[in-house]
Amino acid sequence: MNTRENFGSRFTAIMAMAGSAIGLGNIWRFPYVVGQNGGAAFIIVYLLSALFLCIPIFLSESMIGRRTQCSTFGAMDKLVPGSSWKWMGLLTVFTPLIIFSYYSVVGGWSIEYLVKSLSFSFTTPELRAAAASTASEAVVRESLSTMFGGFITSTWMPLVFFTLFIAFNAVVVIGGVKSGIEKFTKVTTPVLFVLILLIMFYSLSLPGSAAGVKYLVKPDFSKLTSSAILSAMGQAFFSLSLGVGCILTYASYIKKEENLLTTGIYTVIFDLVFAMIAGFAIMPAVFAAGIEPGAGPGLIFETLPFIFAKMGVNMPWLSDVVAILFFVTILFAALTSSISMLETGVAYMVDHKKMSRVKATLIIVAGCWTLGLFCSLSYGPLANVHILGNTIFDFCDKMTSNFLMTFGSILFTAFVGWKMSKAEVKDEFTNGGEKKFNLAIFNVVYFMIKYVAPVVITIIFVSNLVL
Ligand code: PHE
Repeated sequence: MNTRENFGSRFTAIMAMAGSAIGLGNIWRFPYVVGQNGGAAFIIVYLLSALFLCIPIFLSESMIGRRTQCSTFGAMDKLVPGSSWKWMGLLTVFTPLIIFSYYSVVGGWSIEYLVKSLSFSFTTPELRAAAASTASEAVVRESLSTMFGGFITSTWMPLVFFTLFIAFNAVVVIGGVKSGIEKFTKVTTPVLFVLILLIMFYSLSLPGSAAGVKYLVKPDFSKLTSSAILSAMGQAFFSLSLGVGCILTYASYIKKEENLLTTGIYTVIFDLVFAMIAGFAIMPAVFAAGIEPGAGPGLIFETLPFIFAKMGVNMPWLSDVVAILFFVTILFAALTSSISMLETGVAYMVDHKKMSRVKATLIIVAGCWTLGLFCSLSYGPLANVHILGNTIFDFCDKMTSNFLMTFGSILFTAFVGWKMSKAEVKDEFTNGGEKKFNLAIFNVVYFMIKYVAPVVITIIFVSNLVL
């Protein structure tokens, strides 16, 4: 008897996949990389790579997953039995778990900042008094950056919140595909859109916000260097959770009669739209407060609290509400993504090692907690420990987003293009010839998967290696 669970409907499948895609990458990374790399010019490259590269990779992963109804390791083995391709399945079990470990550290930071916003820490009378005059604004900036720096470099508090974040993931994943993941993501993903829209309207209503809008939409092709192009492509990969087996695993829970092209396109569109809204939610506020937009990683944890403090001068309650909504958004976005990473590892243990979900989750969580512990401490007591010139946290981040994700994507597309038979790919893509539109575009899609995607991604991979 096949007891494997499925997503109940197209809607829930899309919400789970979009939930995986929409994460810290959209809210925290997208706005500032767009700004640093030529605004709208960057967005154009991002769009083109989403369309011509990411959709083929997305479809490759989905087809492998849905066809075999297996998680990564088993899927490759089932399609080409006995070949060494199955080891690549194993690689993609580890990649998401490494990401999960350091991602959860940032997830923990977002819980801490939610707690801070719930205790009105950005609108204390002292901060508001200082924020009221331009002369003392620097004091506010400094105390908020000390707040953030003090927090992430300390030993215990980040660990407490990191553990909490991981524990929450474990609870959802132990709940299973239907009563855990599906139930959680079908509510949180739509809520995320509502929250980020609210924040965007607030942000756009601030005086001086127009400069932020201009920053995002004005194309500056002179900034579109080759490294900007690479970064646009890298951003698209990361944001769509590609090359690590998460999409494959989620697709293995999609029903046979579902149209994979539809789920893929919706996920890509939702992810992109969300990233754009997040950009319009964050950048106008940043400009309205007169802050350097290329602030980078500290943007959401240092800059936005400054904006909350400043807006709190006249309307403390509104500012507090927006701050709370903002950190809830970040937390939910992080959770829906991290759950997909954890599930990819757990599905492997359940499918392949025939373990119970509870046991598999606990074992994996223990391993990831240990790695995450080092990532978290690498901001504090272990700041001097370097691997190839990077802190432990940065090493995990760079190794996965610059190399393992692209490598995984090359392998997935090459597998579908060169290892699976064309007839089998066609059958899966068109649901046995039933989906007429898919049938009509099959040759183009196949060409992209077989030739274009592996070649272009290999170029990206090599450039990341040498640059
Ligand atoms: N796509 C997620 C984000 O934008 C990150 C992610 C990467 C999720 C890899 C799953 C797998 O934050």
